[in-house]
Amino acid sequence: MTDKKAHLSIDGIDKTIELPIYASTIGPDVIDVTSITKHGFFTFDPGFMSTASCESKITFIDGDEGVLLHRGYPIEQLAVSSDYLETCYLLLNGELPTPAQKEEFTAEVKKHSTVDASVANLVKTFKRESHPMAILCSAVAALAAIYNDEIDITNAESRKITAYRLIGQIPTLSAMVYKHSKGEEFIAPDDNLDYAANFLNMTFGKAGQAPNVSQTIAKAMDRIFILHADHEQNASTSTVRLSGSSGTNPFAAIAAGISTLWGPAHGGANEAVLNMLEEIGSVENIESCVARAKDKTSGFRLMGFGHRVYKNFDPRAKVMKQTCDEVLAELGLENEPLLAIAKRLEQIALEDEYFISKKLYPNVDFYSGIIMKAVGIPTEMFTVIFALGRTVGWYSHWNEMVSGPYKIGRPRQQYTGSPKRDYPTK
Ligand code: CMC
Repeated sequence: MTDKKAHLSIDGIDKTIELPIYASTIGPDVIDVTSITKHGFFTFDPGFMSTASCESKITFIDGDEGVLLHRGYPIEQLAVSSDYLETCYLLLNGELPTPAQKEEFTAEVKKHSTVDASVANLVKTFKRESHPMAILCSAVAALAAIYNDEIDITNAESRKITAYRLIGQIPTLSAMVYKHSKGEEFIAPDDNLDYAANFLNMTFGKAGQAPNVSQTIAKAMDRIFILHADHEQNASTSTVRLSGSSGTNPFAAIAAGISTLWGPAHGGANEAVLNMLEEIGSVENIESCVARAKDKTSGFRLMGFGHRVYKNFDPRAKVMKQTCDEVLAELGLENEPLLAIAKRLEQIALEDEYFISKKLYPNVDFYSGIIMKAVGIPTEMFTVIFALGRTVGWYSHWNEMVSGPYKIGRPRQQYTGSPKRDYPTK
């Protein structure tokens, strides 16, 4: 709470309404509008452009300055100096782990990485051509059936085991989804491999063969996971909080987050980027594609450009661009035609007045899509990988919410439908 107050005067109400202001550590302070309902009003903020839906200590974003901090640490530093599991520990616990804590955490995640046979069988029942996000969503929801009886969301220890299960099993499930689409045998988790290398082995490895994972690719994948680990109250995280606020099973709440992530305006953008590049087909077609994106009547947008919060640059995109260059060099793919289109598109959009004036910069999905394509991950799997990395963020927000007092989420509305009327008598 600060000493400052906001004063709201409304036509027809004599007194000004005094609203408390709460201080943030960094970023805008917030005006508490909860008392407004007493005066017969709701606040109106479609898309929650200026609504703080909760108090949180996990992640801070300054979209104008291009800043992203997890528990205070800049994403650029975590991406270069940390690894994914350490970042998970940080998000979950608020502090970086000691070496012993890191070791214990890693061991617990590995211990909980095997998926129950019933869920593995469920994955096999889907049509091979099903979208991987549809299967992943169902598989995570199915974990709710496995663990429902033993979860006590009011118990910190029970919640901790849920975190290990989610972080441990999401790569196993993601790899199963891929293997199923290929009609290949599932590969069991390998405790001797690091988190990202284990995921790559379960995805691309062959049953009965020793793991053979490139260190550069494993490092790039680990970085993709770090860069997607959390992003404060975005659509999918807000969904997990809203869903979890009813007291539902956390695996079910995370499945709701996965559903939200799937959309092309959110996590589905990385898949849309590659589809767009394939549609463009060659460098000569870029100009007309950019012209279409600028024409409002076309309904077409440049996928991988723009962000709801970042109106300067996406700090994750900077690191991802560097990783992208490293991976392409390692794989000798700098001159691959699709990637040449991506580079030229990026250059044109960065120089074009339309994109400059609207502050539409390449976002994290623009580069992550290119890296994943280079690594050989099929386009439909891109959003699954985003979901894999983001699972820790969803869980951390759910855990933060249920660890303290919270209310069921219940937004209000401005009703503009028909006034009350009588059903016609026959
Ligand atoms: N291409 C062309 N024009 C665009 C684009 C784009 N990608 N993005 C925004 N605009 C224009 C839009 O038409 C509007 O123009 P005007 O002011 O003349 O009406 C202006 O820029 C502002 O757009 P907005 O829709 O009000 O912006 P928003 O903050 O609501 O939307 C966004 C953000 C990410 C949904 C949007 O930029 C977009 O659709 N981008 C493409 C999809 C994409 O890459 N999404 C991934 C986001 S990053 C991953 C994640 O964190 O989930």
